[in-house]
Amino acid sequence: MFKFAVFGNPINHSKSPLIHHEFAKQTGIKHNYGCICVPINEFKKSISKFFSQGGLGANVTLPFKQEAYQFADELSERAYFAGAVNTLKKQNDNKIFGDNTDGIGLISDLQRLNMIKAGDRVLVIGAGGAARGIILPLLLSGAILTVTNRTNSRAQELVYNFKYNGVINSCSISELNGKYFDLIINATSSSSNKQMPIIPSSILNNKPRCYDIFYQKELTTFLYWCQKQGCNYLSDGLGMLIYQAAHAFQLWHGVMPNITNIFKKLQ
Ligand code: ATR
Repeated sequence: MFKFAVFGNPINHSKSPLIHHEFAKQTGIKHNYGCICVPINEFKKSISKFFSQGGLGANVTLPFKQEAYQFADELSERAYFAGAVNTLKKQNDNKIFGDNTDGIGLISDLQRLNMIKAGDRVLVIGAGGAARGIILPLLLSGAILTVTNRTNSRAQELVYNFKYNGVINSCSISELNGKYFDLIINATSSSSNKQMPIIPSSILNNKPRCYDIFYQKELTTFLYWCQKQGCNYLSDGLGMLIYQAAHAFQLWHGVMPNITNIFKKLQ
């Protein structure tokens, strides 16, 4: 019986077991970590069984992050604002605590890469679940945020939800012309389909740093386009994936693992 596991569907390509195995080896903390493929309508049943049979911590991935949010007895502030949970922990009082480490994973990676500093003008492209998960940590890092999205109303709605958490505005795609940013983050799901959001190339005239939260072996479609426009400060989201796992490990065990080894392995 695993004490820790990742829950998702599909799950066979998940890198979480490999990452957590590496963290356990590195820190010497016993951390047997499994992979559980949950039938689409059975998340609650499966996660309840896991915790009632001795499970201590779970990662949750697509498509169950919203259900994990509903399942948690208590939530971190960032999970509350993200509206989604990717990490669950059984507390000493048996209550289940829900956190979302995706956004802090992104910030940790941007800091590792020296790609962000307080006061930066940051453009987030996308207004779905992934974008929502990174907004609060970006605002807390001192970024001045603009959100744009193919469907403008979704960007407006997202921004409305965070209006008291920092400096944040929405901007339609057509209004982007003539605007400049220090960092552009692609938080759409377009790269997973080898597509990219249609945005004016003029926003790359000042050669901003460009980050895609998606990752793959070769440059993502978005990063390839940025490179073609002359941007050289580029990164995909592999580091974000590893850091979200590291922050989950820290929540469970109180120790922040080093990501260098596993980053080299996965690269
Ligand atoms: P996720 O949880 O990955 O964010 P989602 O909630 O379905 O998934 O949101 C997908 C996001 O990617 C949305 O912002 C979507 O734009 P729309 O709101 O207009 O649908 C965006 N997206 C997906 N494919 C895209 C594409 N080819 N071009 C531009 N935006 C795209």
